[in-house]
Amino acid sequence: MNQKSLPIIGTDYVEFYVGNAKQAAHFYQSAFGFKPLAYAGLETGRKDSTSYVLRQDKITFVLTAALNPKSLVAEHQKLHGDGVKIIALWVDDATKSYQETTSKGAKSYQEPKVISDTDGEVVTAGVYTYGETVHMFIERKNYNGIFLPGYVKWQTDYNPENTGLLFVDHIVGNVGWGEMDKVADYYHNIFGFEQLISFDDKDISTQYTALKSKVMTNDNFRIKFPINEPAKGLKKSQIEEFLDFYMGAGPQHVALATNNIIATINSLRSRGVDFLDVPDSYYDTVIDRVGVIEEDLEILKAHRILIDRDEEGYLLQLFTKPMQDRPTFFFEIIQRKGAKSFGKGNFKALFESIELEQGKRGTL
Ligand code: FE2
Repeated sequence: MNQKSLPIIGTDYVEFYVGNAKQAAHFYQSAFGFKPLAYAGLETGRKDSTSYVLRQDKITFVLTAALNPKSLVAEHQKLHGDGVKIIALWVDDATKSYQETTSKGAKSYQEPKVISDTDGEVVTAGVYTYGETVHMFIERKNYNGIFLPGYVKWQTDYNPENTGLLFVDHIVGNVGWGEMDKVADYYHNIFGFEQLISFDDKDISTQYTALKSKVMTNDNFRIKFPINEPAKGLKKSQIEEFLDFYMGAGPQHVALATNNIIATINSLRSRGVDFLDVPDSYYDTVIDRVGVIEEDLEILKAHRILIDRDEEGYLLQLFTKPMQDRPTFFFEIIQRKGAKSFGKGNFKALFESIELEQGKRGTL
């Protein structure tokens, strides 16, 4: 692909707005094995919010909560519940990224701003994407500090073992009826992303659920954003359920990569992370569909790990249950063994599993 998308080095961080950042941070340490990195709050001069920064290999999460009801964080959290507010992109030139995207029609969230401390300076700027979700551009080439100016090192003696999570593989957005093409066009026209794959309701439907999806990616493939919209089914789809509880469009899941999914899932399960189940029958036919794999099928079955194959290889994946009380955001754990796709072959089995959960919630 010729170099024409907005130059992006990779995902910089993912910021969640939550009701209680202190407790959420503990959960990401204990359940997912993230390490404490940095902190900002009243002690560092913040007035209206507090943030905990955690890291595992190349994955950086920021958990932010409001300190008073007038905070924009409080408004966001009241409307949407806990969820992803910012998908930050690591760039070489934040000012240029901002100018290029806003001149093509992106809505401004924050004009370019230089922030600095004794470790150097960072340039940040931001634009809106679907719903109230934001892309921050982070230019950190002149910075040697732990995270960003304004943060101090977060000191704690509590350091659970990591769970083998390595980097953000992709981040999926759920958007409203008829919005998928508009959002895909936004990434194409404004960010210069190309469409990697698309699915429609013929590919992805069960008795009840249907959805459409387009996967948008940048030149170096480090940024992959599948965009889903609901399609007509017999009953309410999981995308509609998300839109109802998130009160609009927003990030549905972040996929985290591992190079040993069996060990990662084993570790996550032992720490209390709940995953979607699939019926035993999934494993009766999966090998007919995906062919030879290196892993022991019985072990994959014991962990309910899903398998799919494309022209380039196969992948192993598993999805958590929602991470908060509202049935909205969740995580995917993924190990790619050559495959560049997203597990289309598993969608039917997965949706049937999600529908079982929806049935229990009375939201089908
Ligand atoms: Fe995914």
